[in-house]
Amino acid sequence: MPTEHEHIPPQVFVLFGATGDLAKRKLFPGLYHLAAAGRLPQEYFIIGSGRHSPGTDDEFRDRVRGELGEFVKDLDEKVADELLSRLSFQTSTDDDGAELAAAVRAARGRLGDDSRTLVYLSVPPAATKAMFAMLGKEGIAEGARIVHEKPFGTDLESSRELDAAVKAVVSEDQVYRIDHFLGKEAVQNILALRFANGLIEPAWNRSNVVSIQIDVPEDLTVEGRGAFYEETGCFRDMISTHLIQVLGFVAMEPPERFDATALRNEKHKVFAAMKPLDPARVVFGQYDGYLDVDGVAKGSKVETLVALEAFVDTDRWQGVPFYLRTGKAMGDNRKTVTLTFRTPPSGRFGDNSYGPDHLNMELDDSPTAAIHLNVKRPGPDMALTCATFALDLALEDPDDVPLEAYERLLLDVMRGDQTLFTRSDEVDRVWEVCQPVLDNPPAVQPYEPGSWGPEAALTLPGPDGWRLPDA
Ligand code: BG6
Repeated sequence: MPTEHEHIPPQVFVLFGATGDLAKRKLFPGLYHLAAAGRLPQEYFIIGSGRHSPGTDDEFRDRVRGELGEFVKDLDEKVADELLSRLSFQTSTDDDGAELAAAVRAARGRLGDDSRTLVYLSVPPAATKAMFAMLGKEGIAEGARIVHEKPFGTDLESSRELDAAVKAVVSEDQVYRIDHFLGKEAVQNILALRFANGLIEPAWNRSNVVSIQIDVPEDLTVEGRGAFYEETGCFRDMISTHLIQVLGFVAMEPPERFDATALRNEKHKVFAAMKPLDPARVVFGQYDGYLDVDGVAKGSKVETLVALEAFVDTDRWQGVPFYLRTGKAMGDNRKTVTLTFRTPPSGRFGDNSYGPDHLNMELDDSPTAAIHLNVKRPGPDMALTCATFALDLALEDPDDVPLEAYERLLLDVMRGDQTLFTRSDEVDRVWEVCQPVLDNPPAVQPYEPGSWGPEAALTLPGPDGWRLPDA
């Protein structure tokens, strides 16, 4: 399908983990939506790969067609047919990728000299290093862009080992470490709201802000992902990745440009200025019932909820606590950033004041931003009540076809734009910040499914508590 948007050179997509969950839920639907939006190049091939063959190419196509039917609303059969006609499968292992390499060479040969290889590496963490080595040995990595899914190691030491193994094969500008939260429209909007508004930008600092919360409760459980959770836990799954990346956007200084170097330099400076986390200010919880999930060890002490306090020691944020909370089987499903502002230094409204102002951003698929203010309560007395300025960001002048996070990020890889991907020095510093908690993890405390976690998590931010304005 011709693209009216921009020229993207012909691509050979190599998807490792092509029969896995991420491919089924996000990658194939993502490629389909990009095709439907006219954002794939005119010429491309998709080669699925993995240890186990899903059968013949036709059987693989049938399987992917079924998955598209399940995960894409209003599937356009013509677009799906076109996509599937370019799809094939080639088995490979971390020590044998010869046939895959031959398939990639053949596809590149058919697409011409300006074609590129885009490798999507969604493999179990234990296999990542060996996969990079295989890609190097077989020549697949040469000139390729490689999308690297988390985890990027499991602690400081293993992340450094992994980084060395990656750098032995490819250069940093070939590696696209993906954190899909950064592909979300609403997360990018943090930067637009902060840096494009004269009303907001001057207030975004310690003189005006008392505290910041980044709150990502999830109502889903770990059902079906027990084994993964046992290896990973909530701290590594969500905090050292998504929540700290969002913190980077909330706390950074204005980058001089929105490009990969400037934006990631500023994000790295935030992480460099973060105080290493204090385990005494971290709460781990485990929901009742976790131990019954398939794949979970008897008596497991793995955390399914984390609440913590962090500090960013820059001129802008010194002394302002950042409260981060996320967990499974909680009372709601939200992604909320809340800034609490100082109250003006006068008691002229007495006890009538409704409380401090809040700026609240919802980072989910229908993003909103709202400012909660004190206003006069209609009536014959000077009393206050709370009113809300609300901005429905999803309705504000949308692009012709807004893209979901993975779609946007896949497009950026094809464009060669690393702005929304994580650089290796960021990963390294984030592990340094997190390492004290890994060395001295707090004891896990039980909580009821559907609740807001153990008491210690609830009371962590002090008397004002957590802010979910309408929960
Ligand atoms: C994933 C985590 O990276 O992000 C999951 O592994 C989590 O545990 C998910 O549920 C949340 O992302 P989203 O975009 O689906 O809300």
